[in-house]
Order: sequence, then C-alpha cells, then structure tokens
Amino acid sequence: MVLDKSDGTLVSETESTANPATAGVTAGWPDFGALPGWLQQELRSDHAGEYGAVMIYRGVLAVSKDTSVRQFAERHLLTEGQHLALMEEIVSRRGRTKLLPLWRLMGWLTGALPALVGRHAVFATIEAVETFVDHHYEQQIQRLPAQGTYASLRETLLKCQADEVSHRDEAARLALPRRGILLRAWCAVVGTGSMLAVIAAKRV
Ligand SMILES: [Fe+2]
Ligand SMILES: [Fe+2]
Repeated sequence: MVLDKSDGTLVSETESTANPATAGVTAGWPDFGALPGWLQQELRSDHAGEYGAVMIYRGVLAVSKDTSVRQFAERHLLTEGQHLALMEEIVSRRGRTKLLPLWRLMGWLTGALPALVGRHAVFATIEAVETFVDHHYEQQIQRLPAQGTYASLRETLLKCQADEVSHRDEAARLALPRRGILLRAWCAVVGTGSMLAVIAAKRV
C-alpha cells in the first residue's frame, strides 16, 4: 500500500509506520551512504523510477473507466508499490532525488493522458515505459558482481526487472499491433522523457 503524507510526499506503508530515526535504514542492505558514487546514482534513479511507476498507475486509475484497463492498472500498481517499498529500504531519505515532485507530476500525466485517449494508448504507453525500465535495470545488473557485498542488491534488481518485463509483455499483448503516427510519437516522447528523467534524478 502506498500512502500520501501531509507534505505531499509518497511513501510505502512500511516506511510510514517505521521509526523516523531508523526509516530508510534496514538490516540486510548495505549502507547507502557508503556505496560507490555510481551505484548511489543508479539506485537514486531506481527509487525515482518506482515512485514514477506508482504515479503512472494512479494517473490511469484517476481517468480511465475501462474495466480491463482498471484491472490491469490495479494489479500493476500493487507490484509497483512493492518495488517502491524495496527502494525506500535501500535508498536512505538523504540519498533520494530532490526532483520527486516533478516525477510525481510527470508520472501521473504519463498515465492520465493516454487513459483519456483509450485502452490501447495506455497499453502502448506501458510497453514503452517498461521497455526502457528493462534496459535501465539490465545495465545496472551487468555492473554488479553476483557474489559479495552487492549480491542482495543485484538479486533485488533482477526481481524488479523480471516484474517489469512481464508488465511489458502483458501490455504488448494487449496493445494493438498497428499504431497511428500520434501514438508512435507519444511512445517515443515517453521513452526519451524516461531517459532524461533518469539522467536528472542521478544528478539532483
Ligand atoms: Fe517497478
Ligand atoms: Fe512495472
């Protein structure tokens, strides 16, 4: 379950009920602040991405009245909420991007706008997003050794990646194979926007 806090931030239920003094610090994960700089940046972008994913499905559910789209979005929202909870355990509050309000808005719009158009636009959008996320996780997994300090992190990224791939494949099955020029252009914007958002989240 993902909750809104009074200051507008989005946190998983597990974190919202945790001791504030220890929130973000969980036994079993390496100390975020002690990780190499590149890995902190990557994980910061993963946290932002899962936050954005939750907002995409919230945007879809705020707009769509299509039963098949709503069932799809509700199921995926549950998984993305679990991914966000994991990232909140791994990435300390101080380690998170300051751009979360922007991710909140952009994520919501990325779900709501295609939902205004119809079910096939939603499925094509999710396919585009998850195609990007699969590659994003893959390049991180390739850099992490399977044994040693980062083994648990690598396992978690593999698990999230497998979920995103199944989201991508499900969306691809449900989307129409033939897409108009506007939908193709929108999906290209979504892919490029995701890439730029990740670059920004790594830096700020
Ligand atoms: Fe996810
Ligand atoms: Fe996903």
